[in-house]
Amino acid sequence: MTATDHRGLAGVSAGETAISTVEASGDGLFYRGYDIHDLATRSSFEAVAYLLIHGTLPDSATLKAYRIKLQSLRSLPDALKAILEQLPANANPMDILRTGCSALGCIEAERSTLQQTDIADRLMASFASMLLYWHHFHANGKRINTQTDDDSIAAHFLHLLHDKAPDELHCRAVDASLILYAEHEFNASTFAARVTTATLSDFYSAITSAIGTLRGPLHGGANEAAMELIAQFENPASAEAGLLEMLAKKQLIMGFGHRVYRHCDPRSPIIKQWSKDLSEAAGDMSLFNISERIEQVMQREKGMFPNLDFYSASAYHLCDIPKPFFTPLFVIARTSGWAAHIIEQRSDNRLIRPTAEYIGPTPREYPDDE
Ligand code: COA
Repeated sequence: MTATDHRGLAGVSAGETAISTVEASGDGLFYRGYDIHDLATRSSFEAVAYLLIHGTLPDSATLKAYRIKLQSLRSLPDALKAILEQLPANANPMDILRTGCSALGCIEAERSTLQQTDIADRLMASFASMLLYWHHFHANGKRINTQTDDDSIAAHFLHLLHDKAPDELHCRAVDASLILYAEHEFNASTFAARVTTATLSDFYSAITSAIGTLRGPLHGGANEAAMELIAQFENPASAEAGLLEMLAKKQLIMGFGHRVYRHCDPRSPIIKQWSKDLSEAAGDMSLFNISERIEQVMQREKGMFPNLDFYSASAYHLCDIPKPFFTPLFVIARTSGWAAHIIEQRSDNRLIRPTAEYIGPTPREYPDDE
């Protein structure tokens, strides 16, 4: 078998993990043995983050203590606020998180691997603070207090974003989306984190690598690209016509297709239901109906199904979250999965360094000087 048979490492097993698995049929997803459907409907993001990082679901006392710990980690050091104030107002919010993570790694550097779970918690708890401190400073000229007493990361994000107590349904929807986004085996950003970790680099460097990898539209950036797609259509009929035109031009339809799932993305029906519930609550089904028509056309024309990013777009929009903050929410969620993989990689490390099939010129003489 040649390396070219494995472009993009498709179908290549790159190591073992006990953190999550896509079911043997290719259409299920389990975090440490728990079905994603059960987690998204019966758990909370904080419990799932604890499960991923520590290996077991927390009991109620442990979960309460964990929430209190996460709450206590929302403030930003002055040195980081000063950096956020210097970053351009028109920067990509993913660049803010990438830089914020890297800067925190200078200010609160990892001195020992004994700190790794604390750093994971610190980043999960403070990413919303970084993003929204930067946002309000530049958009509204305000230096916000990021230390809210909301009991969840979802509520903290929405509270800081809108500067008011968050809507209960919106909190639950964002919480469910964080669970769905939390972990996904050896996806590109997680693999980037593991590659960085395997060099014995520090925790923040691994997460910074992962954020840079998640940023692209073939990975995390797809939820924003899906929103751009949906938002350009006025109604289901124009969406159908537009889609057919795009498919005729062989354009990629963002929010569809997946490397590991063959028949459906098990996370998609869950976020689709949230998109529907939020639309009904808002009394406006237009975005949902357009999305559903796009799904039908993709199924009919290409036999393709929506991935998690597709209905996340309308769900986030219905929670009044601006599009550029969609992928940063993915960062907040996936930090739990990245952290679990960094810890797992460190526990049985070997440098990740594949080989390449050389296709360049055969050895040749260096030309004589003229
Ligand atoms: N829209 C239209 N056609 C698509 C498509 C999409 N979203 N995704 C894949 N295809 C087509 C490809 O053009 C290709 O067709 P071809 O065989 O005629 O060339 C075929 O399906 C296989 O696609 P390929 O790019 O080889 O699959 P992959 O496993 O390398 O890529 C994704 C997987 C996710 C990167 C890809 O499906 C994609 O780009 N999707 C859109 C971005 C997205 O939603 N990303 C989030 C993933 S969770």
